[in-house]
Amino acid sequence: MLSKTRIERGQGSVQKTRDALDEAASRVDNARRDFMKLFGYGSAGLMMGGLGVGPDGEPSLIGSAQAGGDGQGHRRGRSPYANAFQFEGNLLYMNIGTTGASPQQVVRHLFEDYRDISRRPTAYFFGQQVMRNTIAPGFGCDPYELVMSFNTTDGLWRTVMGIPFQPGDEVITTNMEEDAGISAVNILADRFGVVLRHVNLPTNDAYSDAEVMARFAAELTPNTRAILFSSPVYLTGARLPEKALCLWAAQNDLISIVDGAHGPGMLALDLHDMGCDFYAGAGHKWQCGPGQTGFLYIRNNNHPEDRVVQRPTSDLAPFGVPSDTVDIPIPGYSNTNPLPTYYPTNTLIYGAAGILKDGVRNPDHNIAAVLQLVGNGSRPSQNALTETCMLWDAWGRADIEDYVIALAQYLRARIADIWGSQSLSMPFTDGDPDPVARVGLTSFNPFSPGADYNADLDAAASAAQRAQSSAAVATLRDDYDIVVRNNSVPHSLRSDPTQNAAPGTFSSPLRISTHLFHSYRDVDRVVDALIEVTPPA
Ligand SMILES: Cc1ncc(COP(=O)(O)O)c(C=O)c1O
Repeated sequence: MLSKTRIERGQGSVQKTRDALDEAASRVDNARRDFMKLFGYGSAGLMMGGLGVGPDGEPSLIGSAQAGGDGQGHRRGRSPYANAFQFEGNLLYMNIGTTGASPQQVVRHLFEDYRDISRRPTAYFFGQQVMRNTIAPGFGCDPYELVMSFNTTDGLWRTVMGIPFQPGDEVITTNMEEDAGISAVNILADRFGVVLRHVNLPTNDAYSDAEVMARFAAELTPNTRAILFSSPVYLTGARLPEKALCLWAAQNDLISIVDGAHGPGMLALDLHDMGCDFYAGAGHKWQCGPGQTGFLYIRNNNHPEDRVVQRPTSDLAPFGVPSDTVDIPIPGYSNTNPLPTYYPTNTLIYGAAGILKDGVRNPDHNIAAVLQLVGNGSRPSQNALTETCMLWDAWGRADIEDYVIALAQYLRARIADIWGSQSLSMPFTDGDPDPVARVGLTSFNPFSPGADYNADLDAAASAAQRAQSSAAVATLRDDYDIVVRNNSVPHSLRSDPTQNAAPGTFSSPLRISTHLFHSYRDVDRVVDALIEVTPPA
């Protein structure tokens, strides 16, 4: 049973988060109205064109479509972005952390593009330079350093395999990497004799950014060459202090590699400011591009000032073909270290124009032009990824992030109200979320004793909890048409917060993804269902 004081305190905090969410939604609506006024659109809604590449290989505009809402949706319990998406029937899809869903206009264009290319097949289509010119500013980077990869896994592997690690080199990573990151560092150990040092990430009230920084610092030795961490962390949703970690790495002459599977599309990223050397992200998760799309960012300069750079529009410009140019503003770099040696691991044109030849770095080189050419690509997929990025840029990445975070904070306030804030993966603050919780991923554990995220479990309790949690996920899917997932988490221990659960004693919290197409009504619906499928609070 809930105590009366907790209900009162909780209701205040739920109301506060609802107010904040209303404000975030009305900012979205105001931005839309300004946009429509600026471009003279009528009440038909925000119209967007998409960038495409015609059958002749030249960049071209593909059709326009209604993408936004009518500005009234949030009041009626719909997301201000909901009109752009279409889910089947009553489905409430809350597993964007695994993969997203594309806006309707992107699906239509992808279909049309695929049909066209099947009618008139095109090998080695070009146009990616224009796509990269279009996408890069939205992530705070230069088109020379942004590659459209196949996914996060691809980006991480292309990163670690391109760095000339030596036997005995050490890499600091964490106990909460996803399989892609685990595999990437494990092969470094098995194949090249790299020594791995693992930081245990803290959860719930054991978490603080300072604690995370201290745990990384404790693993530093004279042999450390690189750090590899994910943020947001897929198990807990924690947004680690990315910039502080990357700049700490830079100060210690370490290479920083970020698994940013969950960054693009959820967060307004400024990769130059973050200071990472490598960032691998997904296009198909929060960015809502097609399956098997992603982004690989490789820092290619160290200029601290904001600048405008001239970039070509032709893919062949780096190899001497004349090209028009466009002016692209790029932010200054917080990491001013020299560029680390890096070899391309997958390209058709190794050595062309000397770019990345022998791993040598030159800030004037269009490294992405070499890294992008990995054989025949999928024009429809790359066009579609570009189009989702254009939509996000037009809608405003900061507004999207604000909305996603306000919605997640509302979900957390409702969870804290019912199960208590000790049930959440991260510290819950009444009002604005703590920076670590500025994410759309919410992990909470209603199954542990006292619904305590950090509760100690023995092996039997851990196995029973996994079964119970998996059953709840299945019931939500089968009986409620709600899709969430659970994870196996090495959480911090209540008995000793300096330690994390040992293998065999992990917990199985639920993970709920709330994205731009969700509304407070969707949050209420999942919470109502959770009350029915989980143990009483
Ligand atoms: C943190 C993290 N890294 C990597 C991946 C793999 O992503 P992708 O399917 O884009 O390769 C995931 C997938 O869930 C993830 O959560």
